[in-house]
Amino acid sequence: MPAFDELPLADGLWTGLRSPEGTACAIAVDQGRIAWIGAPDGVPPAHANGPRHDGQGALVTPGLVDCHTHLVYGGHRANEFALRLAGASYEELARAGGGILSTVRATREASEEALFDSASARLRSLLAEGVCAIEVKSGYGLALAHERKQLRVARRLAQAHGVTVRSTFLGAHALPPEYAGRSRDYIDLVCREMLPALHAEGLVDAVDVFCERIAFSLEETERVFQAAQALGLPVKLHAEQLSDMGGAQLAARFHALSCDHIEHLSPAGIAAMARAGTVAVLLPGAYYTLRDTHLPPIEGLRAAGVPLAVATDHNPGSSPALSLLLMVNMACTLFRLTVPEAIAGVTTHAACALGLQDSHGKLAVGRAANFVLWNVQEPAELAYWFGQRPVRCVVRQGRIAEG
Ligand code: NIG
Ligand code: FE
Repeated sequence: MPAFDELPLADGLWTGLRSPEGTACAIAVDQGRIAWIGAPDGVPPAHANGPRHDGQGALVTPGLVDCHTHLVYGGHRANEFALRLAGASYEELARAGGGILSTVRATREASEEALFDSASARLRSLLAEGVCAIEVKSGYGLALAHERKQLRVARRLAQAHGVTVRSTFLGAHALPPEYAGRSRDYIDLVCREMLPALHAEGLVDAVDVFCERIAFSLEETERVFQAAQALGLPVKLHAEQLSDMGGAQLAARFHALSCDHIEHLSPAGIAAMARAGTVAVLLPGAYYTLRDTHLPPIEGLRAAGVPLAVATDHNPGSSPALSLLLMVNMACTLFRLTVPEAIAGVTTHAACALGLQDSHGKLAVGRAANFVLWNVQEPAELAYWFGQRPVRCVVRQGRIAEG
């Protein structure tokens, strides 16, 4: 496999493209950036004579954005999958010391190199489907050295694969065994030592918390948010996944970029998110894997004008998914999103959920060239097919990365 910086440049004029709205279009790429975009009969002379790339009628969309993943971890949890099939619940497994803590053990044992290799292999699957920006959370180290190891891998993935990576510190994901019964002390450690140190090393783009009865309380979440705010870092929240903790209202007070999962989100939570401009990140892979039946309040979110994003939530416990398009399909089938909503969910709104709205999620002049040419006739096919990869070509960070 060639190194990213050996891939061919995408510079030149891309013709024979169709927008999701059905209009013919062309894109000029110059020095890795979108220099012009418009109707094929309006190509400015400056862009008419360079290299040509014929899209042969392909649908073009912005590069996809996977705005919620836990991509870097050791081991896997297929055994828990089997236990759940036999009747155990996600919550029971977590309370019995399995769940997240089982992945913490495997991640602590793994070297940075081993984590990089396994995460790279998973990342390749996502990239092959058109992902051009991705969030990677820590949260399987739960101790400074091991959280650092995860976040360093996240930074290295960006370099090695030529993909935008936003790294999110999720030190408050679960209570590590050495702090059993001492939740307050652990949150002190997260706020006073881990977060400041990792931030000082340039490893943190945002801060997340798992606010849930099997994880951290509202009050503990607030303390982590205050620590993030003091450092000028944006926050996000794993909110109302298994129960309504009121996390969304708290997150909205801190102008959170996103609240994620939100199956049990209340009307008050929706209203708070709408006021704060917080994105609702829907994670149908976790809903499906945990055989959840409590749907997120899509109608209420829609009515309130809360932007909806869709992500894989890739992790070894609740969502071992490595296809963002499958999540698009599930968001439509399980959550009843419309096709345009689901596509916006993995482009524009996903970019907003990462604070990347000025660089990703839309095709616009001046932005780095990140776009996907699809072998489909109409946008609905992106949600309709599953188990195949209708990608003709991916342009990522100005290079022809696939196809
Ligand atoms: O987003 N809900 C908390 N965190 C992850 C699951 C992590 C795990 O089970 O390992 C999630 O679903
Ligand atoms: Fe998650």
